[in-house]
Amino acid sequence: TAEVVPQAPEDPLFGLMRAYRADQDPNKVDLGIGAYRDDNAKPWVLPVVKKADETLRNDPELNHEYAPIAGIASFTSKAAELILGGADSPAIREKRVTSVQTISGTGAVHLGALFLARFYTGSKKVYLSDPTWANHNQIFSNVGIPIAKYPYFSKETSGLDFEGMKAALHGAPEGSIVLLHACAHNPTGVDPTLEQWKEIAELLRVKKHFPFFDCAYQGFASGDLMKDNAAVRYFVEQGFELVIAQSFAKNFGLYGERAGCFHVVTSPASDAETTIARIASQLAILQRSEISNPPLYGARIASIVLNDPKLFAEWEENLRTMSGRIITMRKALRAKLEELGTPGTWNHITDQIGMFSFTGLTEPQVLKIRSDFHIYMTKNGRISMAGLNTKNVEYVAKAIDKIVRE
Ligand code: LMR
Repeated sequence: TAEVVPQAPEDPLFGLMRAYRADQDPNKVDLGIGAYRDDNAKPWVLPVVKKADETLRNDPELNHEYAPIAGIASFTSKAAELILGGADSPAIREKRVTSVQTISGTGAVHLGALFLARFYTGSKKVYLSDPTWANHNQIFSNVGIPIAKYPYFSKETSGLDFEGMKAALHGAPEGSIVLLHACAHNPTGVDPTLEQWKEIAELLRVKKHFPFFDCAYQGFASGDLMKDNAAVRYFVEQGFELVIAQSFAKNFGLYGERAGCFHVVTSPASDAETTIARIASQLAILQRSEISNPPLYGARIASIVLNDPKLFAEWEENLRTMSGRIITMRKALRAKLEELGTPGTWNHITDQIGMFSFTGLTEPQVLKIRSDFHIYMTKNGRISMAGLNTKNVEYVAKAIDKIVRE
């Protein structure tokens, strides 16, 4: 039977990372995978994470027992407060939330997809933004949920194709699942404004669509935790039944530790507490059969920070350091391109938000900039802003300038 297994292509993003690492050119620049780098192009261990790690290591009670199936409660409860905007969120006050610790954001999207594949009774099709994080496609396909697309990015403006998005969601079968990036859309860096979110919410309400939020960048996008969860908070205030996949990879710099959470929020109802208990019981069964129970290390680190007001404040400071440096790099790249008079408009680089910018470079240009300048970005022209720093931004701008003029 081994003969029937076909060769699969390498994952494009991890393949890019491998190619970058193998490149010996001293000027090489990694604008590929979405992972934060400091001004020296080095990974950054958040100072607050170092402190929490110390605390953890010095804890004489620490052992290596299993976590409960749904994960560490001190972590999941704070994770829910974080995304829902605090303990006084109506969903938390009314006990309409259940949370399960997952294998970071990917595991959360998977658990959510699996849960919906099993129990969702609406139109079982998920609408993904075009484009979206590539992994969304295979996660939903793997559990047998068919995929449809809604327009999202306008090539003309390098901004949101709001009319196209609304028309597609309007035309979707009633009760479809709609995947929304809570903030810092990956790969485009283009987010709806709060006014546009309100319109999207109204459209989803009328069409009885089901919102599935993916939140990988809270606090990392703007530096403000409450700004980056504004869309989720608005939908919850409107009484939506919804789910949220939450990653702590980027905002804690815990990429390899796989700390994340999946939340289900039900609508206000007198029996909401029993409904949520039934949902929690099914999630526990799914989790048990998939991973048994989640890994502890990253969740313990995050839990220490989330439960200590002083460390929490320090974490916010660390978030501002990361988002601030990225915003500075956006300004620097745009300024350099404008200074060079590079053909085209470059305001989208500073208009877009979060880890990524959708440059507008075409696939042949992306391949050319890789071979000629050793600058690595995904084929769709997405650059990870975190890969830019004060030492390479001019080199990158000049390379883009050269490629665009060819
Ligand atoms: C990215 O899109 O670069 C990140 O979210 C990393 C990943 O897992 O794809």
